[in-house]
Amino acid sequence: MDDHAVIAGSVTIRPYHTSDRDALRRISCATAFLGLPLSLFVDDDVIVADILTRYYTDFEPRSCFVAVVGNTVVGYIIGSTDTKKARQIFMRQIMMPALWRAVRKGIFLKKNALRFLRHLMVSVIKGEFRDPDFSRLYPATLHINIDKNFHRHRIGSKLIARYLEYLQNDHIAGVHLGTISSSAKEFFIKNGFSLLYSGRRSYLCYITKDIANYYILGKNSQNKLTYDILP
Ligand SMILES: CC(C)(COP(=O)(O)OP(=O)(O)OC[C@H]1O[C@@H](n2cnc3c(N)ncnc32)[C@H](O)[C@@H]1OP(=O)(O)O)[C@@H](O)C(=O)NCCC(=O)NCCS
Repeated sequence: MDDHAVIAGSVTIRPYHTSDRDALRRISCATAFLGLPLSLFVDDDVIVADILTRYYTDFEPRSCFVAVVGNTVVGYIIGSTDTKKARQIFMRQIMMPALWRAVRKGIFLKKNALRFLRHLMVSVIKGEFRDPDFSRLYPATLHINIDKNFHRHRIGSKLIARYLEYLQNDHIAGVHLGTISSSAKEFFIKNGFSLLYSGRRSYLCYITKDIANYYILGKNSQNKLTYDILP
């Protein structure tokens, strides 16, 4: 049996427990910003992990699942069945305290964070974050991350299958997500998602030397709506 089959056979997908929180947050930091070192952006893992995961683990844990090999969490899918409500809670209860922590810790006075923020603001001003809202036809959302040592062992596909089953049992009409990773786009298409929208994001260009595409992908029972405004 090859490595692929051994790992795929030994992985368990199960609901998230609070005891998984630290491992999940660690994976989120390691895979954030296309896996680039976090120190390029900000010297505070707590802020990054809070922004990426805290809404889901602390406010909607029933929509979170983990992949476990042995006793180790090697990946997760976290989401919300109601993107609009999640956004509101995120802004008030996650983003505000995270900004406050950044101010208290003097994060915005550091060179790396200032540089990142400057590029992010330019990207916002250029309108790159003005994406269409798919939450009416695809009310749920998700984020998925696998430890890089466990990629391409079907763990992501198993997590997606489990999450879709959960949404179906809850009678949720559809799910959408955004990503700047073109390999993640291929993964979602392979898992039956449709490309709903393509935009651009230039805020990482000062590091990657490339303007990234930003993809929104979705899946519902019909997958009829497709929307592409990339030039
Ligand atoms: C994207 C991700 C979740 C995929 O998980 P995975 O367990 O490695 O994927 P799977 O093994 O289930 O892949 C299933 C199929 O998807 C496609 N696929 C997966 N990763 C791919 C890649 N890097 N490039 C191209 N296609 C890919 C392939 O068709 C693959 O089948 P194959 O291996 O037989 O060719 C994982 O790579 C990851 O966590 N990436 C970093 C974080 C991220 O980009 N998250 C998504 C944004 S929310």
